[in-house]
Amino acid sequence: MCYAKEKDMEIKKVVIPVAGWGTRSLPASKNIPKEMLPVYNKPVIQYVVEEAQASGLTDVVFVTNQNKTIIEDHFDYNLALEDMLKRKGKDEMLAKIREVAEMVNIISVRQKKQLGLGHAVLCAREVVKNDPFCVMVGDDLMFGMEPGIKQLISVAMTEHMPVVGVMEVPSEKVSNYGIIEGEEFAPGMYRVRNLVEKPKVNEAPSRLAIVGRYVLFPDIFYHLEKLTPGHGGEIQLTDGLKGLAGNNRLLAVKIQGQRFDAGDWAEYLTANIYFALHDEVLRDALVPRLKELLPF
Ligand code: UTP
Repeated sequence: MCYAKEKDMEIKKVVIPVAGWGTRSLPASKNIPKEMLPVYNKPVIQYVVEEAQASGLTDVVFVTNQNKTIIEDHFDYNLALEDMLKRKGKDEMLAKIREVAEMVNIISVRQKKQLGLGHAVLCAREVVKNDPFCVMVGDDLMFGMEPGIKQLISVAMTEHMPVVGVMEVPSEKVSNYGIIEGEEFAPGMYRVRNLVEKPKVNEAPSRLAIVGRYVLFPDIFYHLEKLTPGHGGEIQLTDGLKGLAGNNRLLAVKIQGQRFDAGDWAEYLTANIYFALHDEVLRDALVPRLKELLPF
């Protein structure tokens, strides 16, 4: 297959799957998608879209389901609210609300059955067409000097290869992730030879876990459509990536920065504190209360 050359290869589309059940976040996620739960003063998904926007991605393709339309609404105008804020002279908040509606173009595709992350990505095939594209998992938050997905885009563009984001995890956590096996060809960059989904500690080829950021080319769809359900009865994106790795066509980049899995309560709550501590006014009120609660 032939792709655009580096100088005209520009990645604009990002697929953000948000159609999962969010069972780890129940009962909070019974009627509110877990991607809409707030972290400090914004829903989780807004941080993900902000990272996409800061990386030059303009077209967001949400893979969604019938209970998650509130996510698209968040990135649309709310004219009644804007009108009220205007009448009350709350111009600063008005500007913030409008900014969210104007951040990116929103395109939605439905995942009619929750068959896994790989299947969710496959649902975006007709929108992605023949262009390279990014995938950002809708409940994975990343913060660093440079946006997480941007760190992968620059490597994908220079190497003309699909790239997955990885981070080193403690050995007791390898069984929660897809783990890569590969050779480091430059600091923090790997040629991926194989991937194992959720291995046992003693079977993990490394501690480099795939986190929710990917740059892919349309050949991933060829691998995904051939798959039958794997781990957990789901069509796993990791199994599709294995096909790329088998053809020596997959790189991994160690993402620099902080990451929070908002689908995990401890991580979600830590993310709330992390952001609250970055707000100078709130920090002054929060720190003494935290000190009271943590007796040391
Ligand atoms: P997770 O495995 O974290 O999400 O998938 P989940 O299935 O919603 O949550 P738990 O594990 O039951 O708590 C990562 C991302 O992929 C999306 C989810 O919405 C989440 O943002 N996803 C997952 C889909 O879009 N479709 C699926 O079939 C599965």
